[in-house]
Amino acid sequence: MAKSLASISVLLLPAISASANAAILKNDVFGAESPCRCFPGDARWPTIDTWDAFNASLGGKLISTIPIGAPCHHDTAAGYNSDQCRNLQDVWFLPETHLKSSSSTMAPFFTNNSCNPFSGPDATCSLGNYVTYAVEATDAADYEKVLEFSSTHNIRLVIRNTGHDYNGKSTGAGGLALWTHNLKSKELKQYNSTNYFGEALKFGAGVLGSEAFEFADSHGLVVVGGNQPTLGFAGGYIQGGGHGPLASKYGLAADQVLEWDIVLASGKTVTAAPESEYADLYWALCGGGGGTFGAVLSVTVKAYPSISFSTASLTFAAPENASDAIVDAYFEAVGSFNQLVPSINDAGAVAVWLVTAQAFLLSTVYAPGLDKKEVDTLLQPFLDELDTSKIQYQYASQEYTTFLETFRAQAPVNVSNINIGGRLIPRTLVEENNDALTAAIRNITYSGALFSGVSFNVSRHAPDSIAANPYLRDAIFDAVVATPFDYANWDTNLQSINAITNILLPQLEELTPNGGAYLSESDFQQPDWQTAFYGAHYDKLSQIKSKYDPEGLFYALGAVGSDKWTQRSDGRLCRE
Ligand SMILES: Cc1cc2nc3c(=O)[nH]c(=O)nc-3n(C[C@H](O)[C@H](O)[C@H](O)COP(=O)(O)OP(=O)(O)OC[C@H]3O[C@@H](n4cnc5c(N)ncnc54)[C@H](O)[C@@H]3O)c2cc1C
Ligand SMILES: *[C@@H]1O[C@H](CO)[C@@H](O)[C@H](O)[C@H]1NC(C)=O
Ligand SMILES: *[C@@H]1O[C@H](CO)[C@@H](O)[C@H](O)[C@H]1NC(C)=O
Ligand SMILES: *[C@@H]1O[C@H](CO)[C@@H](O)[C@H](O)[C@H]1NC(C)=O
Ligand SMILES: *[C@@H]1O[C@H](CO)[C@@H](O)[C@H](O)[C@H]1NC(C)=O
Ligand SMILES: *[C@@H]1O[C@H](CO)[C@@H](O)[C@H](O)[C@H]1NC(C)=O
Ligand SMILES: *[C@@H]1O[C@H](CO)[C@@H](O)[C@H](O)[C@H]1NC(C)=O
Ligand SMILES: *[C@@H]1O[C@H](CO)[C@@H](O)[C@H](O)[C@H]1NC(C)=O
Repeated sequence: MAKSLASISVLLLPAISASANAAILKNDVFGAESPCRCFPGDARWPTIDTWDAFNASLGGKLISTIPIGAPCHHDTAAGYNSDQCRNLQDVWFLPETHLKSSSSTMAPFFTNNSCNPFSGPDATCSLGNYVTYAVEATDAADYEKVLEFSSTHNIRLVIRNTGHDYNGKSTGAGGLALWTHNLKSKELKQYNSTNYFGEALKFGAGVLGSEAFEFADSHGLVVVGGNQPTLGFAGGYIQGGGHGPLASKYGLAADQVLEWDIVLASGKTVTAAPESEYADLYWALCGGGGGTFGAVLSVTVKAYPSISFSTASLTFAAPENASDAIVDAYFEAVGSFNQLVPSINDAGAVAVWLVTAQAFLLSTVYAPGLDKKEVDTLLQPFLDELDTSKIQYQYASQEYTTFLETFRAQAPVNVSNINIGGRLIPRTLVEENNDALTAAIRNITYSGALFSGVSFNVSRHAPDSIAANPYLRDAIFDAVVATPFDYANWDTNLQSINAITNILLPQLEELTPNGGAYLSESDFQQPDWQTAFYGAHYDKLSQIKSKYDPEGLFYALGAVGSDKWTQRSDGRLCRE
């Protein structure tokens, strides 16, 4: 259990042992069992003819990766193109830039600095940690072919949906990606089971959060989804648990799942629902993490009647070169906001905020079902405190008739610009030791990092009802610590990633002993990640993993069962 994800950071260190690598290659050449995935250049790597036949069997849906940063580099097939490169640089931080690619990742650390669009045309653009091929799947038959090909040729399989995953789950050296973004089916159903009677929505694996919200709205409905329009719905988002604007009102996104259509490692397509033969698989997929139990084709979730919303936003700042007393007052206010969060959550609302050493920015309080007056009343005690402390602030609130209207009014955030780590903050910490939490926030932000919170109360559902991390049920917010990503100096990123793991997060961990982290917003080097990401559910999840994927076809960093694998310095994935 104690093996750390840090073993993956060998990705960036010199090869562990050249002789060990040589032994593997030799095994491969002589046809003996290798503990490693086949890798480009190996004798057993499929020939071009084999890839072509595979492509033909898929009706031409096989894509050979050309990293999107290629036009910014000389050492690529098409060569450097200054116009294309500049255009790419202009949109690099928008999720859409990466979303439409079959290989790009929004977690910049997992590019391993290959094809960096800002590093200058002479820097290298090798495939590195990007997948080698991807299949633009459109149906179950494509899924089956990809799983079978990966299994037969011992090739690393990567499931890629949007590329948002912070732990780089949607990329991998020498990988074949099952790219799901074209599975766009959307269906309204009248659902009738022992557990639920009512309207339900069924979404294909590639449907985005925004597309799910639009479809629901067109039927006068809402579903629980995430805070950003470009997040996937049926992929890593909901399989990891999934919080968002409706979480305090209805629970996690994974709490809403009625059934999954999924292709298993065996190639068989099944429907996993409670009280079915696949009840254990249903349970595991609901929050037990994406990319490891099988390849999901679609998810069916509970839908709720459309609901009005109010939102609120608030900012205040510590003036530049302020006196100690003013800085103290600023952080006292920052800390005091933590104590308002339980009442926001308990009113069915969700808060999303950001803290730096200079400014506090509550970008949105999402308050479903509340009118403007009610959301103002919710915030008033905190505004009174700011007045008492003579802190100037900007406050605004607004009312909307639908969730879709509310959601569209929010500014989307940029991606590919930070490294992150996270910790779930239990209600008891804020109630019993908020001063220590405030001191940690002060220290973290003074170290130059960003601190952000996304709140929710998902305790209406029992901790063991689904696989989602049981710590989520005690939490009042997910704290995310972020450092800016440096495109000019890779060594800086190594330092800041390690600072997150060794200096910043431990301050929150110390305050939350035996606590946890939300796997989708976490540090990929998290020590004891099995306990932190899955809590008491890890052992049961491991058994379900072994039952449905005994050969370990599915792998993703930090996913259940990934402790059996190590990624070597060249990116090769090996059982060891
Ligand atoms: C800008 C930003 C905002 C975010 N906001 C929120 C938020 O509001 N709430 C929240 O809960 N989380 C949030 N997250 C975290 C988010 O939930 C994860 O990044 C999640 O992995 C995204 O899922 P995806 O399918 O879109 O991404 P991908 O990176 O494409 O997929 C992630 C992984 O999920 C697995 N997976 C994907 N599709 C399938 C499938 N069909 N079958 C099996 N496995 C699959 C694979 O392992 C894949 O690698 C945010 C992340 C970012 C970058
Ligand atoms: C697969 O076939 C299609 C259609 O013939 C072709 O456009 C594509 O380049 C092929 N992919 C690879 C990797 O060869
Ligand atoms: C977001 O990214 C876009 C495109 O890369 C950029 O133009 C914009 O300045 C960024 N916004 C912020 C707030 O960083
Ligand atoms: C990551 O980059 C290092 C340094 O350039 C390189 O040695 C290593 O092979 C790369 N890893 C992958 C997976 O590409
Ligand atoms: C729901 O299913 C049950 C059991 O199959 C059935 O008795 C009932 O009539 C169904 N209800 C409706 C409205 O279809
Ligand atoms: C803050 O202090 C720095 C360094 O002493 C100085 O350069 C800067 O002008 C000051 N800023 C303001 C707003 O006074
Ligand atoms: C944060 O706390 C650590 C340990 O207590 C201390 O060494 C460090 O100086 C602090 N950093 C800042 C920026 O306050
Ligand atoms: C969630 O809200 C309920 C009802 O207000 C409350 O009893 C419970 O303590 C809250 N849970 C958390 C973790 O805040």
